[in-house]
Order: sequence, then structure tokens, then C-alpha cells
Amino acid sequence: MTAVGIDAVEVWTGNLKLDLAETFAEEKGKDPAYFTKGLGLRASSLPDSYEDIVTMGANAAKKLMDRKGLEPDDIGRIDVGTESSFDNSKPISTYIAGCLEQVYDGDFHHANKGERKFACIAGTQSIDDAYNWIRAGRNRGRAALVVATDTALYARDDSGEATQGAGAVAMLIDEDPSLVDLSTDQGYGSADETDFLKPNQQFPSVDGKRSVQVYLARMREALEDYESVAGDVRLDDFIYAPFHTPYPGMVRKAAALAYRHVTRDTAVEDELAESIGRQPRRESFDDDGEYEEAVREYMDALKETEQYQDWYAATVDPTLTISRDVGNWYTGSVHLARVSALKTALEAGRDVAGESMLVASYGSGAQAEIHGEIIQDGWADEIAALNVDEQIAERYDLSWSEYELVHDRHNHEMDSELEEFTTPDAEFVFDGWGRMGERKYTYVE
Ligand code: CAA
Repeated sequence: MTAVGIDAVEVWTGNLKLDLAETFAEEKGKDPAYFTKGLGLRASSLPDSYEDIVTMGANAAKKLMDRKGLEPDDIGRIDVGTESSFDNSKPISTYIAGCLEQVYDGDFHHANKGERKFACIAGTQSIDDAYNWIRAGRNRGRAALVVATDTALYARDDSGEATQGAGAVAMLIDEDPSLVDLSTDQGYGSADETDFLKPNQQFPSVDGKRSVQVYLARMREALEDYESVAGDVRLDDFIYAPFHTPYPGMVRKAAALAYRHVTRDTAVEDELAESIGRQPRRESFDDDGEYEEAVREYMDALKETEQYQDWYAATVDPTLTISRDVGNWYTGSVHLARVSALKTALEAGRDVAGESMLVASYGSGAQAEIHGEIIQDGWADEIAALNVDEQIAERYDLSWSEYELVHDRHNHEMDSELEEFTTPDAEFVFDGWGRMGERKYTYVE
């Protein structure tokens, strides 16, 4: 079977930065370690006054098309995953196609376009749609462009305000991919949950503590469902495990639970038993409370073991390096985690071609999905072509009062003008409103 997967990826961060450990912590009188150690975040990316989900998505897509030497005719499908859409009818992919048509010869009239919605998992679902379209033989030799783009803003003073972010990840899905081959094995955990939602409102209603529990519960279901098709997961099956990363602290919790699950009844559990005992089993306890207390104690002890810490440092921590500096990109977040892992491998001079990754996506509301990917021979060239570090370093560092103005500027209920902090350079910019309330864009040389 011909491999189908991600051929190329490009990243576009919002051009502004809010320093959490300094600016946010100081304003709120919080310990900086709450952000850097507790949440695991140093800074958030935010959109400048001329940026939005269309500009960031189109800019990431243009970088990808330019680098791969693509023309509109090479792309048969444009899908956007977002939970920040400003239009309930016209999909963001049409706006992005319109932007790209300003700078390329030819057009995307032949391309099937859509927009996927299921909170942060919509980017992964768009990849699935593209994969299925290619596997079904309906692509007529063309590739699919998937763009995951979000302005992950929360209402001011919401518990999620410290986890904000803004950015886009563009991915080319094609046959014989250079980056990763997608496995057909998938597992799902999906349930009707009321943890994080936007009922016709821009900023989410969030039950933060509950959202953490729902993330863990759905991930666990997805892992069990994945194992039911792919067989039991073992620690050394996967070189990296990129998770959806609302903030690195969330992944720290999920990784520990996943480790406990996959090591149960294995030699690793036996080996650990010498220092921390065996994992508590429900049948050994009279009630749920006692069992849960025993599990908490086991988990606390597990996280202190050298075996766990070595596995975490090798398999999970490399997926979090970009996230720490940009915050939550919602639909793009798990795809940024993949880039982060491969970038770490490249910087360490490792050859990871042929190795597998276990990729764990998640969307509130809620659904988790887990699948395997095999890293392809072209991965190092693809990752070496990215300039993520430069983009992160070049962001304008906002003061608190500037941040407040930026938040107002992007609040759909406020009609707030704001001078830009950065100068757009070879990128698409928001350029005002059209006669039917549509947003207009131009390319600035
Ligand atoms: N030094 C070091 N660590 C500190 C600290 C300090 N001074 N103060 C607190 N901490 C630690 C806490 O012990 C805690 O650690 P653990 O997670 O290991 O227990 C961590 O910092 C976070 O502290 P709190 O749990 O007290 O944080 P909070 O309640 O203020 O906020 C949150 C956490 C509720 C998740 C909030 O960030 C939020 O509402 N976020 C938005 C929702 C979200 O991201 N949910 C995640 C799952 S849903 C999802 O994934 C979809 C999505 O993208 C939104």
C-alpha cells in the first residue's frame, strides 16, 4: 500500500508575545513559578492588530507552497481546522484560498474546501479527511492542504487567560510523504461533555478543573480503543508521544497516566515494584475512595522514579519545547508538538527515520484520538527548513497595558482600533471590512 501522510509542515506564530513569568505574573501578583513550573509556560503568542486566523493560516500555507514549489493546480483540497471562526456559513478555507490567489498564478476553483469543527481535534480530523480522500483515489494526483489556525483567547480574568496563544500550522497531505506516514490504526474516546464550549460566543465558557478530568478520561478511552486494534502499546514502541498541549502541565498529567497504563502487568511494573510497590488494583480495595487514594500515592511515587523520569525526558519533554513559548494554539497544538519533537531530534543530530510516534489529539466537548505515525526519510530536510526559533524570537514583547489593548482589539464585541506593534513583512494582513461584513485581506510585500 502506498504511504499517505504529512509531506510538509509550516508554522506561523502571531507576531506579538505576552511574557507570562514576568509581565502577567507581575500584574497579577502571582509567583512566576505558577506559569513556568505549574503550567509549564513562559509566554503566549498573540495576534497583532492586522492578524487573525485567516492571515496566520494563509501565511503558513504560502510558506509551505513556496518552499515545496507548489501551484494552486497541485492542491485539490483545502481544509481548515479552527475553533475561532468568525463566520457560521462561509468557511475560513475560502478566505485563505482568496488570499493565496492574490499571489499565485491560477486559482483554487477546482479545490474542495471546508472547515472542520470539534474544538482542538479539528486539525487532526481534517488530516483524516484528506487521508481518506487520497486513499479513496479521489484526489486525481493532487495533494491536500490542511490548515489548523486559531486565536486561542479567553475572556479577561478567565482561568484560561494564562494559557492563551495564536498561530497556525499548515500541512500538506500527500502520497509518499517526506515527513510522516499515517497508520490506519486509530483509537477514539468520545462523549457528550460540557467542559469547554462557545455557544455562539467568541470566548469560551470553561470549567477548567473539569476540562482537565475530561481530557484524561477521553485520552484513556482512546488509548484502550487504540490498543484494541493495534495491540498493547509498549514503552519502546514509540520514540516520541506528541499530545494535544493546552499547556505542558496538562501533558505531564496525561503522560504519567499513560505510563501507568502501558506498564501494567509488564516487566517494567515488576522492576518498579521493588522501589514503589505494584500498581493498586481496584479489586484489592473495599471502596473507590481508598483505591483512588492508593492510585494517587502510586502516581506520586512513580513520577519520582528514575525509570519514569528518563522515559518522560526522552519521549514527552521534546514535544513541549515550542509550546512553552507560544501557549495554546488549539487545533494547531498537537501538530506543533510533532514539530517540536522532530526539531529536538534534528538539533540532537539523531536519525529518527523509520521510528514511530504515538500521536494523541484532543478536542473539548469532548473527543480524544490516538494513532501511530512512522517518520519518513525526508524528515530532517523538512524540519531543517522551518524558522520557528526566529519567528518566536522576533515577536514584539507586550507590556501589560499594550496586552489589554490587543485583547480589546480582537474582541468581536468591541469596535476597537489599534496601531500595529510590528511591521508586516511579506505577509497577508487584515485590511478592513467589505460591503457584506466580510473581512478583507491584502498581501504586503
Ligand atoms: N509554583 C509551582 N507550581 C505551582 C504554583 C507555584 N507557585 N502554583 C500552582 N502550581 C501548580 C499547581 O500545583 C498545579 O500543578 P498540577 O497540575 O501538577 O496539580 C498547576 O500549577 C496548575 O495550577 P492550578 O491547577 O491551581 O491552576 P488553575 O486552576 O489556576 O488553572 C486550568 C489550570 C484550570 C487548567 C486553567 O489553566 C484553565 O482553565 N485553562 C483552560 C482550560 C484548559 O486548558 N483545560 C485543559 C484541558 S481541555 C483542553 O485541552 C482543550 C483546550 O485546548 C482548551
